Order: sequence, then C-alpha cells, then structure tokens
Amino acid sequence: MSKPYDPSKDGAEMNFKDRMSYGDYLSLDMLLNAQKTWTDTHDEMLFIIQHQTSELWMRLALHELSAARTCLLDGKAHQAMKMLARVSRIFEQLNSAWDVLRTMTPSDYTAFRDELGQSSGFQSHQYRQIEFMLGNRNTAMLKPHAHRPDLVELLQEELAQPSLYDVALKALAQAFPLPDEVMNRPSSETHQPHAAVQAAWTEIYRDPETHWELYELAEKLVDLEDYFRRWRFNHVTTVERVIGFKRGTGGTGGVSYLKRMLAVELFPELWHLRTEL
Ligand code: HEM
Repeated sequence: MSKPYDPSKDGAEMNFKDRMSYGDYLSLDMLLNAQKTWTDTHDEMLFIIQHQTSELWMRLALHELSAARTCLLDGKAHQAMKMLARVSRIFEQLNSAWDVLRTMTPSDYTAFRDELGQSSGFQSHQYRQIEFMLGNRNTAMLKPHAHRPDLVELLQEELAQPSLYDVALKALAQAFPLPDEVMNRPSSETHQPHAAVQAAWTEIYRDPETHWELYELAEKLVDLEDYFRRWRFNHVTTVERVIGFKRGTGGTGGVSYLKRMLAVELFPELWHLRTEL
C-alpha cells in the first residue's frame, strides 16, 4: 500500500506562524462569524447566506460599474465594456442562486419570518446604489436610510454624479449632438426617454459598422439590463412562491410592489428603438 500523500514533501507551506495564510488574506474569521441566526430553525442559515452572498456580489458589481463609468468618461470604452460584461455575468450568477433559495418552502420560511421584524432587502443600500448608478434615481428610496447618515451621504454622493447611462449618452452625443434638456438635467433625476436619443441610437443600429464602438457599448448595456430584469423577475417569482401575496416585511404590498418594479426601464431608448428597426 502506498504511503498517504504528505504535501510538505511536495513543497507545500505548512507553517503560518509568521506568514499570511489563506484565512488571514480573506479575513475569514470575520466573514464566517457574520452568520448570526436569530432562531434555531434550520432554514434561517440558508436565508442569511443567500442575502450575504448577494450583497458580496453586489459589492463587486458596484466596484466594476464605478470603474466602467470612469473609463467611459476617460474615453477608454474598451476597458469599460470588459467591466460591463463582468457585471452581466455577476447578475447571471445571482440569477442561478435563486435555485438554492427556492428549495425553502413557505412552511420553512414562516418558521422564522416573524424574527426578521421590519427588515427587508428593500433597505439594501447597495441595491439602491446599483440602481442609482445605472440611472434609476428615485430619491424617495433614500428615506429608509435616514437613521444612517453615512449611508445617506454615500447614496447622495452617487446622485451627484452622472449615471452610467448619462455617461453613455455623453459618448453618444459626440457622434450625434443631443439637446440640452438631455445633457444638462440635474444628475439626481432619472433620465426620461427622449426622441432625439432614440433617433441617435437608431442610427447606430442601422449602421453598426460605422459606429462600432457605440453599437458595442449599447449592446453591453442591453445585456446588463437584460440580466438585471431577470434578477427582478426571479426575485418576484421566488417571493410569490414563498409568501404568496402577503405584505413584505419592509411594509410594501410585497409581490404587487415587486411586479410594479418589473416595468422600470434603465436604458429606455435602447429597448424602444428595436420596434423601429
Ligand atoms: C424568500 C426569500 C425572499 C423573500 C420572501 C423576499 C421578499 C421581498 C419583498 C416582499 C420585498 C418588497 C419589500 C418589502 O419587504 O415590503 C423585497 C424587496 C427586496 N428584496 Fe427580497 N425577498 C427574498 C429574498 C431576497 C434575496 C435573497 C435578496 C438578495 C439580496 C433580496 C433582495 C431584495 C431587494 C434588493 C429588494 C428591493 C427591491 C426593489 O426595491 O426594487 N431579497 N423582498
């Protein structure tokens, strides 16, 4: 019989007394101590980890979106597109994750739901920051964060900057000048669909060869919104499966609110133009 494998004979480092280990590098003690359950029900751990991992992926999405916006402003469209492609993959990852949560039945969830109090993903400041960054800027969504001035400040700093779509429109305006009301509206307001913007994007889709970079950027944005919409749809479907039409812990109508959010368009003209082609 062969001897059991000894990795130290193969050069594997075994002594981490004065060296940075895997756990040190990743702050695993902190990370793995953050799953505080409030009940002794079996499925609460799944519920917590599903939310925490989603928040971690959202953190990366924000990191990428913010860098993509800077690259676009600096005229580095190719780098920006690589980052936007990554954000779409992040949402694809988050979409697959619903399959794990869907194994939680209504009876599993009701066993600990009361312990959540009024807490809800509705108060996820990172989700709101992603929406603000992409261009869906509803300032009424700042209110649930009023008890945390640091978070309000973070979200307001985001609102003071042009959204990703605004920056894409800046790039578009270099090829097709756009009206003042589109280019110079207050950054804290959501862009409203505009005929001149749609006409400009339509030109690009009619002749992609001539405007390849803008065409590629437009498709990257559509891709991103496509995956984002799937996330919303998967969320509302999971919610209906688990709580039916009960009100949300956050106080909204629940499924009725989430269905309403399905109609939100982030990059409206990029969808509307398709009917004209
Ligand atoms: C069984 C699991 C889940 C249920 C029953 C549920 C339920 C709900 C409900 C009812 C709302 C509407 C707000 C309210 O509470 O009144 C909501 C919003 C939200 N939830 Fe969930 N949720 C679940 C899982 C998740 C997960 C895993 C995430 C990941 C972070 C998440 C993130 C969000 C976000 C970001 C919102 C705000 C959406 C918006 O304002 O458009 N939820 N959820």
